[in-house]
Amino acid sequence: MEPEILRGVPLAPRTTLGLGGPAAHYCEARSEAELASALAYARGAGLPVTLLGGGSNVIVADEGVPGLVVRVASRGFSARAAGERVEVEVAAGEPWDDVVARACDEGLAGLEALAGIPGSTGATPVQNVGAYGQEVADTIVSVRALDLETGAVRTLDAAACGFRYRHSVLKERPGALAVVAVTFALRRGDSAGVRHGELARALGGKGPAPLARVRETVLALRRAKSMVLDAPGLGARDENARSAGSFFTNPVVDAAHAARVVALAVQSGRVARAEDVPRWPEPDGRTKLAAGWLVEQSGFSRGLRRGAVGLSTRHALALVCHEGATAAALLALADEVRAGVFERFGVVLEREPVWVGPPLPAWRAPDVRDGSR
Ligand code: EPU
Repeated sequence: MEPEILRGVPLAPRTTLGLGGPAAHYCEARSEAELASALAYARGAGLPVTLLGGGSNVIVADEGVPGLVVRVASRGFSARAAGERVEVEVAAGEPWDDVVARACDEGLAGLEALAGIPGSTGATPVQNVGAYGQEVADTIVSVRALDLETGAVRTLDAAACGFRYRHSVLKERPGALAVVAVTFALRRGDSAGVRHGELARALGGKGPAPLARVRETVLALRRAKSMVLDAPGLGARDENARSAGSFFTNPVVDAAHAARVVALAVQSGRVARAEDVPRWPEPDGRTKLAAGWLVEQSGFSRGLRRGAVGLSTRHALALVCHEGATAAALLALADEVRAGVFERFGVVLEREPVWVGPPLPAWRAPDVRDGSR
Protein backbone atom coordinates (compact mmCIF):
# COMPACT_ATOMS: atom_id res chain seq x y z
CA MET A 1 0.00 0.00 0.00
CA GLU A 2 2.80 2.43 0.94
CA PRO A 3 4.74 3.37 -2.18
CA GLU A 4 8.50 3.29 -1.75
CA ILE A 5 10.02 6.79 -1.76
CA LEU A 6 13.35 6.94 -3.59
CA ARG A 7 15.91 9.77 -3.65
CA GLY A 8 17.66 11.39 -6.62
CA VAL A 9 15.86 9.48 -9.37
CA PRO A 10 16.72 10.57 -12.94
CA LEU A 11 13.66 11.88 -14.77
CA ALA A 12 15.09 12.16 -18.31
CA PRO A 13 14.48 8.45 -19.11
CA ARG A 14 10.88 8.88 -17.93
CA THR A 15 10.03 11.59 -20.46
CA THR A 16 9.81 11.49 -24.26
CA LEU A 17 12.06 14.56 -24.59
CA GLY A 18 14.68 12.72 -22.53
CA LEU A 19 15.72 15.91 -20.75
CA GLY A 20 16.28 17.23 -17.29
CA GLY A 21 17.78 16.43 -13.92
CA PRO A 22 16.68 14.14 -11.09
CA ALA A 23 13.69 14.19 -8.76
CA ALA A 24 14.77 14.90 -5.18
CA HIS A 25 12.13 12.38 -4.00
CA TYR A 26 10.32 9.98 -6.33
CA CYS A 27 7.73 7.25 -6.14
CA GLU A 28 5.41 5.27 -8.38
CA ALA A 29 1.77 5.01 -7.40
CA ARG A 30 0.21 1.81 -8.78
CA SER A 31 -3.26 2.39 -7.36
CA GLU A 32 -5.50 5.17 -6.12
CA ALA A 33 -4.67 4.13 -2.54
CA GLU A 34 -0.92 4.37 -3.23
CA LEU A 35 -1.40 7.78 -4.80
CA ALA A 36 -3.39 8.98 -1.77
CA SER A 37 -0.68 7.66 0.52
CA ALA A 38 2.12 9.35 -1.49
CA LEU A 39 0.25 12.67 -1.38
CA ALA A 40 -0.29 12.31 2.39
CA TYR A 41 3.44 11.64 2.84
CA ALA A 42 4.28 14.80 0.88
CA ARG A 43 1.83 16.87 2.92
CA GLY A 44 3.33 15.54 6.14
CA ALA A 45 6.90 16.19 5.00
CA GLY A 46 6.04 19.59 3.52
CA LEU A 47 7.23 18.53 0.05
CA PRO A 48 5.80 20.12 -3.09
CA VAL A 49 4.34 17.45 -5.42
CA THR A 50 4.85 17.07 -9.15
CA LEU A 51 2.72 14.49 -10.94
CA LEU A 52 4.14 12.58 -13.87
CA GLY A 53 2.14 10.41 -16.25
CA GLY A 54 3.55 9.09 -19.52
CA GLY A 55 6.11 11.89 -19.62
CA SER A 56 5.17 12.91 -23.16
CA ASN A 57 4.10 16.47 -22.45
CA VAL A 58 6.64 17.74 -19.94
CA ILE A 59 9.95 19.56 -20.04
CA VAL A 60 12.02 18.84 -16.93
CA ALA A 61 14.50 21.50 -15.81
CA ASP A 62 18.20 20.65 -16.12
CA GLU A 63 18.71 21.20 -12.40
CA GLY A 64 16.03 18.64 -11.54
CA VAL A 65 12.89 18.88 -9.44
CA PRO A 66 12.76 19.51 -5.70
CA GLY A 67 10.03 17.86 -3.62
CA LEU A 68 8.26 14.62 -4.53
CA VAL A 69 7.64 13.48 -8.09
CA VAL A 70 4.86 10.88 -8.24
CA ARG A 71 4.56 8.80 -11.36
CA VAL A 72 0.95 7.70 -11.68
CA ALA A 73 1.03 4.06 -12.81
CA SER A 74 -2.44 2.81 -11.80
CA ARG A 75 -4.22 0.39 -14.11
CA GLY A 76 -7.89 -0.38 -14.76
CA PHE A 77 -10.50 -0.37 -17.53
CA SER A 78 -14.09 -1.19 -16.69
CA ALA A 79 -17.12 -0.85 -18.93
CA ARG A 80 -20.81 -0.73 -17.99
CA ALA A 81 -23.96 -0.13 -20.03
CA ALA A 82 -25.53 3.29 -19.47
CA GLY A 83 -28.68 3.57 -21.59
CA GLU A 84 -27.63 3.67 -25.23
CA ARG A 85 -24.04 4.35 -24.28
CA VAL A 86 -21.31 2.34 -22.65
CA GLU A 87 -19.51 4.12 -19.84
CA VAL A 88 -15.87 3.19 -19.52
CA GLU A 89 -13.93 4.13 -16.41
CA VAL A 90 -10.19 4.14 -16.97
CA ALA A 91 -7.47 4.46 -14.31
CA ALA A 92 -5.22 7.49 -14.72
CA GLY A 93 -2.04 5.47 -15.29
CA GLU A 94 -3.34 3.45 -18.26
CA PRO A 95 -1.30 4.23 -21.38
CA TRP A 96 -3.66 6.20 -23.62
CA ASP A 97 -2.95 4.40 -26.87
CA ASP A 98 -3.78 1.04 -25.22
CA VAL A 99 -7.13 2.47 -24.11
CA VAL A 100 -7.93 3.61 -27.66
CA ALA A 101 -6.93 0.20 -29.03
CA ARG A 102 -9.07 -1.63 -26.46
CA ALA A 103 -12.11 0.59 -27.06
CA CYS A 104 -11.81 -0.07 -30.81
CA ASP A 105 -11.38 -3.82 -30.26
CA GLU A 106 -14.51 -3.86 -28.10
CA GLY A 107 -16.49 -2.00 -30.78
CA LEU A 108 -16.79 1.22 -28.77
CA ALA A 109 -16.70 4.43 -30.81
CA GLY A 110 -15.58 7.88 -29.73
CA LEU A 111 -11.83 7.61 -29.19
CA GLU A 112 -10.59 6.05 -32.47
CA ALA A 113 -9.18 9.28 -33.97
CA LEU A 114 -7.06 9.75 -30.84
CA ALA A 115 -4.90 6.72 -31.63
CA GLY A 116 -1.13 7.02 -31.41
CA ILE A 117 -1.14 9.85 -28.89
CA PRO A 118 1.51 9.15 -26.29
CA GLY A 119 0.96 9.64 -22.58
CA SER A 120 -1.34 8.37 -19.87
CA THR A 121 -5.12 8.55 -19.63
CA GLY A 122 -5.05 10.80 -16.56
CA ALA A 123 -3.27 13.48 -18.57
CA THR A 124 -5.84 13.57 -21.36
CA PRO A 125 -8.49 15.75 -19.64
CA VAL A 126 -5.87 18.22 -18.38
CA GLN A 127 -5.20 19.69 -21.80
CA ASN A 128 -8.27 18.24 -23.50
CA VAL A 129 -6.21 16.09 -25.84
CA GLY A 130 -7.44 16.17 -29.41
CA ALA A 131 -6.57 15.15 -32.95
CA TYR A 132 -8.21 14.46 -36.29
CA GLY A 133 -11.56 15.97 -35.37
CA GLN A 134 -12.01 14.34 -31.95
CA GLU A 135 -11.09 15.57 -28.49
CA VAL A 136 -11.57 13.86 -25.15
CA ALA A 137 -14.08 16.55 -24.13
CA ASP A 138 -16.48 14.99 -26.69
CA THR A 139 -16.79 11.80 -24.61
CA ILE A 140 -15.67 12.55 -21.03
CA VAL A 141 -18.52 12.22 -18.54
CA SER A 142 -16.50 12.84 -15.40
CA VAL A 143 -13.03 13.01 -13.92
CA ARG A 144 -12.26 11.67 -10.45
CA ALA A 145 -9.39 13.43 -8.72
CA LEU A 146 -7.64 13.80 -5.37
CA ASP A 147 -7.25 17.26 -3.90
CA LEU A 148 -3.52 17.63 -3.23
CA GLU A 149 -4.03 19.99 -0.33
CA THR A 150 -6.65 18.04 1.61
CA GLY A 151 -6.50 14.53 0.17
CA ALA A 152 -10.28 14.61 -0.45
CA VAL A 153 -11.73 12.81 -3.47
CA ARG A 154 -13.58 15.05 -5.94
CA THR A 155 -15.62 14.16 -8.97
CA LEU A 156 -15.83 16.80 -11.69
CA ASP A 157 -18.51 16.39 -14.31
CA ALA A 158 -17.72 17.50 -17.86
CA ALA A 159 -19.14 21.01 -17.30
CA ALA A 160 -17.00 21.50 -14.19
CA CYS A 161 -13.91 20.57 -16.23
CA GLY A 162 -14.33 23.74 -18.33
CA PHE A 163 -13.03 22.17 -21.53
CA ARG A 164 -11.89 24.31 -24.46
CA TYR A 165 -9.33 23.72 -27.23
CA ARG A 166 -6.33 22.19 -25.40
CA HIS A 167 -7.59 23.57 -22.09
CA SER A 168 -9.43 22.69 -18.86
CA VAL A 169 -9.68 23.93 -15.27
CA LEU A 170 -7.16 21.21 -14.35
CA LYS A 171 -4.61 23.01 -16.53
CA GLU A 172 -5.39 26.39 -14.96
CA ARG A 173 -4.40 25.18 -11.50
CA PRO A 174 -1.56 22.73 -12.07
CA GLY A 175 -0.81 20.71 -8.97
CA ALA A 176 -4.19 21.34 -7.32
CA LEU A 177 -5.80 18.04 -8.31
CA ALA A 178 -4.37 14.62 -9.15
CA VAL A 179 -6.54 12.76 -11.66
CA VAL A 180 -7.18 9.18 -10.55
CA ALA A 181 -9.73 8.03 -13.14
CA VAL A 182 -11.57 9.28 -16.20
CA THR A 183 -15.01 8.10 -17.34
CA PHE A 184 -15.91 8.21 -21.03
CA ALA A 185 -19.33 7.66 -22.61
CA LEU A 186 -18.79 5.64 -25.79
CA ARG A 187 -21.18 4.33 -28.40
CA ARG A 188 -21.38 0.87 -29.95
CA GLY A 189 -20.82 0.88 -33.70
CA ASP A 190 -18.70 2.41 -36.42
CA SER A 191 -16.95 5.73 -36.16
CA ALA A 192 -19.48 8.52 -36.77
CA GLY A 193 -18.92 10.79 -39.77
CA VAL A 194 -15.33 12.00 -39.99
CA ARG A 195 -15.00 15.79 -39.74
CA HIS A 196 -11.28 16.21 -40.25
CA GLY A 197 -10.32 16.93 -43.89
CA GLU A 198 -6.97 15.11 -43.98
CA LEU A 199 -8.43 12.02 -42.28
CA ALA A 200 -11.52 12.00 -44.52
CA ARG A 201 -9.30 12.17 -47.62
CA ALA A 202 -7.19 9.27 -46.35
CA LEU A 203 -10.34 7.22 -45.64
CA GLY A 204 -11.86 8.11 -48.99
CA GLY A 205 -14.89 9.98 -47.64
CA LYS A 206 -16.58 11.65 -44.68
CA GLY A 207 -19.06 8.87 -43.97
CA PRO A 208 -19.05 6.42 -41.05
CA ALA A 209 -16.10 4.02 -41.10
CA PRO A 210 -15.07 0.90 -39.15
CA LEU A 211 -13.23 1.76 -35.94
CA ALA A 212 -10.17 -0.35 -36.76
CA ARG A 213 -9.79 1.35 -40.14
CA VAL A 214 -10.03 4.83 -38.64
CA ARG A 215 -7.53 3.93 -35.96
CA GLU A 216 -5.04 2.44 -38.42
CA THR A 217 -5.41 5.37 -40.80
CA VAL A 218 -4.77 7.86 -38.00
CA LEU A 219 -1.70 5.88 -36.91
CA ALA A 220 -0.34 5.99 -40.47
CA LEU A 221 -0.95 9.76 -40.73
CA ARG A 222 0.75 10.36 -37.38
CA ARG A 223 3.70 8.12 -38.25
CA ALA A 224 4.28 10.07 -41.46
CA LYS A 225 4.67 13.19 -39.28
CA SER A 226 6.81 11.40 -36.63
CA MET A 227 3.97 12.09 -34.19
CA VAL A 228 3.86 8.55 -32.83
CA LEU A 229 6.43 8.92 -30.09
CA ASP A 230 8.64 6.18 -28.74
CA ALA A 231 7.91 5.10 -25.21
CA PRO A 232 10.29 6.78 -22.77
CA GLY A 233 13.40 4.81 -22.08
CA LEU A 234 13.26 2.71 -25.24
CA GLY A 235 15.77 4.89 -27.03
CA ALA A 236 15.33 6.90 -30.18
CA ARG A 237 14.16 4.94 -33.18
CA ASP A 238 14.00 7.89 -35.52
CA GLU A 239 15.77 11.23 -35.55
CA ASN A 240 12.53 12.96 -34.52
CA ALA A 241 11.68 10.56 -31.71
CA ARG A 242 12.67 12.75 -28.77
CA SER A 243 9.86 15.31 -28.78
CA ALA A 244 6.75 16.36 -26.90
CA GLY A 245 4.52 16.35 -29.99
CA SER A 246 3.21 19.80 -30.85
CA PHE A 247 5.35 22.28 -28.92
CA PHE A 248 2.91 25.17 -29.36
CA THR A 249 -0.87 25.27 -29.45
CA ASN A 250 -2.55 26.57 -32.58
CA PRO A 251 -3.19 30.26 -31.92
CA VAL A 252 -6.74 31.61 -32.02
CA VAL A 253 -6.87 35.22 -33.22
CA ASP A 254 -9.64 37.69 -34.02
CA ALA A 255 -10.92 37.98 -37.57
CA ALA A 256 -9.02 41.21 -38.31
CA HIS A 257 -5.74 39.69 -37.16
CA ALA A 258 -6.35 36.57 -39.27
CA ALA A 259 -7.03 38.79 -42.29
CA ARG A 260 -3.70 40.59 -41.71
CA VAL A 261 -1.84 37.26 -41.52
CA VAL A 262 -3.45 36.15 -44.78
CA ALA A 263 -2.67 39.49 -46.48
CA LEU A 264 0.97 39.33 -45.32
CA ALA A 265 1.35 35.81 -46.64
CA VAL A 266 -0.15 36.67 -50.02
CA GLN A 267 1.74 39.99 -50.43
CA SER A 268 5.06 38.38 -49.61
CA GLY A 269 4.42 35.65 -52.17
CA ARG A 270 4.56 32.95 -49.49
CA VAL A 271 1.24 31.60 -50.74
CA ALA A 272 -0.41 32.07 -54.13
CA ARG A 273 -3.96 32.45 -52.83
CA ALA A 274 -5.62 33.39 -49.56
CA GLU A 275 -7.20 29.89 -49.42
CA ASP A 276 -3.71 28.42 -49.11
CA VAL A 277 -3.29 29.80 -45.59
CA PRO A 278 -4.44 26.96 -43.29
CA ARG A 279 -7.03 28.24 -40.81
CA TRP A 280 -10.30 27.17 -39.24
CA PRO A 281 -13.27 29.21 -38.00
CA GLU A 282 -13.96 29.04 -34.27
CA PRO A 283 -17.53 29.05 -32.89
CA ASP A 284 -16.96 32.50 -31.35
CA GLY A 285 -16.13 34.11 -34.73
CA ARG A 286 -12.38 34.03 -34.21
CA THR A 287 -9.96 32.06 -36.37
CA LYS A 288 -7.58 29.25 -35.44
CA LEU A 289 -4.29 29.44 -37.31
CA ALA A 290 -1.83 26.57 -37.82
CA ALA A 291 1.18 27.10 -35.57
CA GLY A 292 3.34 24.73 -37.67
CA TRP A 293 2.59 26.75 -40.78
CA LEU A 294 3.38 30.05 -39.02
CA VAL A 295 6.69 28.61 -37.78
CA GLU A 296 7.75 27.52 -41.26
CA GLN A 297 6.59 30.75 -42.89
CA SER A 298 8.65 32.70 -40.35
CA GLY A 299 11.83 31.12 -41.69
CA PHE A 300 12.20 28.10 -39.39
CA SER A 301 12.37 25.09 -41.67
CA ARG A 302 11.75 21.49 -40.76
CA GLY A 303 15.02 19.88 -39.72
CA LEU A 304 16.56 23.17 -38.49
CA ARG A 305 19.30 22.53 -35.89
CA ARG A 306 20.60 24.65 -33.05
CA GLY A 307 23.29 22.45 -31.56
CA ALA A 308 21.65 19.44 -29.95
CA VAL A 309 18.06 20.68 -30.36
CA GLY A 310 16.04 21.47 -33.46
CA LEU A 311 12.80 21.13 -35.36
CA SER A 312 11.47 17.78 -36.51
CA THR A 313 12.30 16.97 -40.12
CA ARG A 314 8.63 16.01 -40.61
CA HIS A 315 6.68 18.74 -38.76
CA ALA A 316 7.83 22.25 -37.84
CA LEU A 317 5.63 22.27 -34.73
CA ALA A 318 7.60 19.52 -33.00
CA LEU A 319 10.80 20.62 -31.30
CA VAL A 320 13.18 17.68 -31.00
CA CYS A 321 16.20 16.73 -28.92
CA HIS A 322 19.39 15.04 -30.02
CA GLU A 323 22.34 13.61 -28.06
CA GLY A 324 23.53 16.19 -25.51
CA ALA A 325 20.37 18.33 -25.53
CA THR A 326 19.49 20.41 -22.48
CA ALA A 327 16.22 21.91 -21.34
CA ALA A 328 17.87 25.34 -21.46
CA ALA A 329 18.77 24.87 -25.14
CA LEU A 330 15.25 23.68 -25.94
CA LEU A 331 13.68 26.70 -24.23
CA ALA A 332 16.11 29.01 -26.06
CA LEU A 333 15.04 27.55 -29.40
CA ALA A 334 11.39 27.87 -28.40
CA ASP A 335 11.95 31.55 -27.56
CA GLU A 336 13.73 32.11 -30.87
CA VAL A 337 10.80 30.57 -32.75
CA ARG A 338 8.24 32.57 -30.76
CA ALA A 339 10.13 35.80 -31.41
CA GLY A 340 10.41 35.03 -35.13
CA VAL A 341 6.70 34.25 -35.50
CA PHE A 342 5.78 37.35 -33.53
CA GLU A 343 8.03 39.56 -35.64
CA ARG A 344 6.64 38.24 -38.89
CA PHE A 345 2.95 37.84 -38.08
CA GLY A 346 2.34 39.56 -34.73
CA VAL A 347 1.09 36.22 -33.37
CA VAL A 348 2.10 35.04 -29.89
CA LEU A 349 2.56 31.27 -29.68
CA GLU A 350 1.79 29.53 -26.39
CA ARG A 351 3.83 26.54 -25.23
CA GLU A 352 1.89 23.26 -25.00
CA PRO A 353 4.13 20.98 -22.87
CA VAL A 354 4.25 21.67 -19.16
CA TRP A 355 7.45 23.07 -17.63
CA VAL A 356 8.57 21.26 -14.48
CA GLY A 357 11.14 23.36 -12.67
CA PRO A 358 11.71 26.76 -11.11
CA PRO A 359 9.25 29.40 -12.40
CA LEU A 360 10.25 30.73 -15.82
CA PRO A 361 10.11 34.45 -16.53
CA ALA A 362 7.04 35.29 -18.62
CA TRP A 363 7.90 35.29 -22.33
CA ARG A 364 8.19 38.85 -23.59
CA ALA A 365 7.45 39.65 -27.18
CA PRO A 366 10.36 41.39 -28.86
CA ASP A 367 10.01 45.12 -29.37
CA VAL A 368 8.40 45.34 -32.77
CA ARG A 369 7.16 48.74 -33.89
CA ASP A 370 4.18 47.37 -35.77
CA GLY A 371 3.25 44.10 -34.08
CA SER A 372 1.53 42.81 -37.21
CA ARG A 373 3.98 43.70 -39.92
N1 EPU B 1 1.96 22.70 -41.56
C1 EPU B 1 2.98 23.38 -42.16
N2 EPU B 1 4.26 23.04 -41.81
C2 EPU B 1 4.54 22.08 -40.91
C3 EPU B 1 3.47 21.41 -40.31
C4 EPU B 1 2.17 21.74 -40.63
O1 EPU B 1 2.78 24.25 -42.99
O2 EPU B 1 5.71 21.83 -40.66
C5 EPU B 1 0.57 23.02 -41.95
C6 EPU B 1 -0.09 21.79 -42.57
O3 EPU B 1 0.15 21.71 -43.93
C7 EPU B 1 -1.54 22.02 -42.26
C8 EPU B 1 -1.51 22.81 -40.97
O4 EPU B 1 -0.20 23.31 -40.81
O5 EPU B 1 -2.13 22.82 -43.25
C9 EPU B 1 -1.90 21.95 -39.78
O6 EPU B 1 -0.97 20.87 -39.62
P1 EPU B 1 -1.40 19.42 -39.09
O7 EPU B 1 -2.55 18.92 -39.88
O8 EPU B 1 -0.18 18.58 -39.02
O9 EPU B 1 -1.98 19.67 -37.65
P2 EPU B 1 -1.53 20.65 -36.47
O10 EPU B 1 -2.53 21.72 -36.36
O11 EPU B 1 -0.10 21.04 -36.58
C10 EPU B 1 -2.91 19.47 -34.61
C11 EPU B 1 -2.62 19.04 -33.20
C12 EPU B 1 -1.94 17.68 -33.20
C13 EPU B 1 -2.86 16.69 -33.89
C14 EPU B 1 -3.11 17.18 -35.33
C15 EPU B 1 -4.04 16.31 -36.10
C16 EPU B 1 -2.29 21.10 -31.95
C17 EPU B 1 -1.30 22.03 -31.33
N3 EPU B 1 -1.77 20.03 -32.56
O12 EPU B 1 -1.65 19.66 -35.22
O13 EPU B 1 -1.78 17.27 -31.85
O14 EPU B 1 -2.28 15.41 -33.92
O15 EPU B 1 -3.69 18.50 -35.27
O16 EPU B 1 -5.35 16.60 -35.81
O17 EPU B 1 -3.49 21.33 -31.87
C18 EPU B 1 -0.21 17.48 -30.09
O18 EPU B 1 -0.98 18.27 -29.56
O19 EPU B 1 0.89 17.16 -29.53
C19 EPU B 1 -0.53 16.95 -31.38
C20 EPU B 1 0.33 16.20 -32.08
